[in-house]
Amino acid sequence: MSNALKEYLSFCQNRVEQALEDRLPKAHILPQKLHQAMRYSTLDGGKRTRPLLTYCTGNVLGIAPEALDGLACAVEFIHVYSLIHDDLPAMDDDDLRRGKPTSHVAFDEATAILAGDALQALAFEILANDPSIAAAPEARLKMITALAKASGSLGMVGGQAIDLASVGTKLSLPELENMHIHKTGALIRASVTLATLAKADIDATVAAKLDHYAKCIGLSFQVKDDILDEESDTVTLGKTQGKDKDNDKPTYPALLGLAGAKQKAQELHENALDSLSIFGKEADLLRDLSLYIIQRDH
Ligand code: IPE
Ligand code: IPE
Ligand code: MG
Ligand code: MG
Ligand code: MG
Repeated sequence: MSNALKEYLSFCQNRVEQALEDRLPKAHILPQKLHQAMRYSTLDGGKRTRPLLTYCTGNVLGIAPEALDGLACAVEFIHVYSLIHDDLPAMDDDDLRRGKPTSHVAFDEATAILAGDALQALAFEILANDPSIAAAPEARLKMITALAKASGSLGMVGGQAIDLASVGTKLSLPELENMHIHKTGALIRASVTLATLAKADIDATVAAKLDHYAKCIGLSFQVKDDILDEESDTVTLGKTQGKDKDNDKPTYPALLGLAGAKQKAQELHENALDSLSIFGKEADLLRDLSLYIIQRDH
């Protein structure tokens, strides 16, 4: 990772940690177990790639981080909810997440389901109401619509449904790509869309180029996630390595082999860079972030 991105990542991680803490119900508030579970899965963990993407996109567009905190939190809350539910016995049945026992292991299944539900609701409450978001009402509605679409049956949840229906089957490459674009790509794309919607007078070409960039890295993110599941280790990942094979999931390495999957990730990175060619140095953090996504070790 470049030094510039390392510094910005640590700045964003600290910033979003505080912003998440500020927006989560305190652990002593009833129902305590539910609030403890929401806090347990959200705070002090994860790479915060989606918030970083929102802040980096805002940075390119000249939007101050203070005006992006609510947006970054909304995306991260949806992401955390998706992880809690993804780990449930009815889905991937994982017991380790972000280096800790998963929500349903640390608490219980019903609490994990409810914590996910509540985090999802919180994300939309933030988009509707959070004072950090300085957008006009029409722009707020567009933000709510964008996040709802990215999260719902035509976005992340739809991708998860395809994922579960595909266990034990062999998908074609276009089918696998479609699944990944939905289950992971949609929310990563939304992390960029929310920042572009925060810029009132954004040029249409600039928005389209940033969206195409986000589409490329959204897919490369899951290709790399598949690669890491195959070749990393449980301690580094903070989640159980080798689960995709155990669960008989269709993945890029399963279909293309590790070398083919790495080639695909590299091509997506190059496509992402192409989308940024209209920008100057102001987009270097986004360039570095695309490379980080395919080079990361967890
Ligand atoms: C893991 O996401 C699940 C996917 C969508 C691939 P991340 O790799 O972003 O997980 P955290 O947030 O860093 O824990
Ligand atoms: C999950 O994909 C995508 C989500 C919407 C959470 P995975 O099932 O591959 O994510 P990990 O590997 O458990 O983090
Ligand atoms: Mg899964
Ligand atoms: Mg999983
Ligand atoms: Mg995975």
